[in-house]
Amino acid sequence: MANLKTKYMGIELESPVIAASSGLTASVDKVKEFEQAGAGAVVLKSLFEEQILYDSNKMTEDYNSEVHADALDFFNGMSSSFFLDEYLTLVENCKKAVNIPVIASVNCVSDGAWLKYAKRFENVGADALELNAFTMPVNKKMSSEDYEKTYYRLAEGIKKAVNIPVALKLSPHFTSLARVLENFADIGIEGLVLFNRFYRPDIDIKKVKMSHAPILSAAEEMSLTLQWIALLSGEIECDFAATTGVHDSEGVIKQLLAGAKAVQICSAVYKNGSSVFAKMNNEIADWMREKGFFSIADFNGKLCQEESENPEVYERTQYMKAAVGIS
Ligand SMILES: Cc1cc2nc3c(=O)[nH]c(=O)nc-3n(C[C@H](O)[C@H](O)[C@H](O)COP(=O)(O)O)c2cc1C
Repeated sequence: MANLKTKYMGIELESPVIAASSGLTASVDKVKEFEQAGAGAVVLKSLFEEQILYDSNKMTEDYNSEVHADALDFFNGMSSSFFLDEYLTLVENCKKAVNIPVIASVNCVSDGAWLKYAKRFENVGADALELNAFTMPVNKKMSSEDYEKTYYRLAEGIKKAVNIPVALKLSPHFTSLARVLENFADIGIEGLVLFNRFYRPDIDIKKVKMSHAPILSAAEEMSLTLQWIALLSGEIECDFAATTGVHDSEGVIKQLLAGAKAVQICSAVYKNGSSVFAKMNNEIADWMREKGFFSIADFNGKLCQEESENPEVYERTQYMKAAVGIS
């Protein structure tokens, strides 16, 4: 088989195809299964910032402070929550069980108190930390800059807190995406995971009730990520990982050509099981052999905008052609 080795955030991967964070990556058994199936790395299910802080806050709230005021300090200091301890055990056990990199994940909105505990992910052996960071920009009093600053504070805070590589898993909802991503790179963030796919509300008109859109993605959803990775991977000094809508080896190859260093898959694993990793790896290797590429580096980023002979195709021209062509 062709050599699929690559590097993401300085970490060696046997394959660029990574198991994305989800309910499927919440147990040691599954992580072992994904390694055996050929996953290059695994991003564990996210721990919520609120979970990290939950227990100590809850205990503090529940406690009758007038009667037991002196005990409050104890609970406040005991912030290593049950959730956090359980998660750290998962990281530690996964590290013992597999050789592939294990990336811990935190779903967070702020540079708040949870950062105090971030080092613990590193201490139990996590190879990297991925922050799934999103604040819904619904506050009319906040400008785009105000929102961006909350992300920068988070990025600066986490870089101070840990020495392992950090990736930010982000939404496309920034006014000037290129500038914001460059600022993250300047802060020292090693990885940018584009783009997170959120729970999407929908409306059931028969029942006249709120519902939700499909939980799993469709392959057509990949194009937004592909476009932005192609636009920015050659411009910004940071490793890009693709997520959303990659359902087959063709999708992985496109993202690698666009400049992604790694490609995360989730819905494809829910739909097809862990064998999808081996299938993708085999098909990528076949394609590489057919095209005469010996390593991922031989073609990685070959079609990013910076390398492209027609850089404009990533911006406006295609829209103009399509708009003019459709009557
Ligand atoms: C059931 C489910 C649970 C998920 N849980 C998480 C999570 O805990 N943290 C996270 O960062 N992303 C989570 N995701 C998002 C996936 O990691 C991934 O980014 C998203 O599904 C888009 O990729 P896909 O098109 O390959 O599914 C979840 C997705 C699904 C479907």
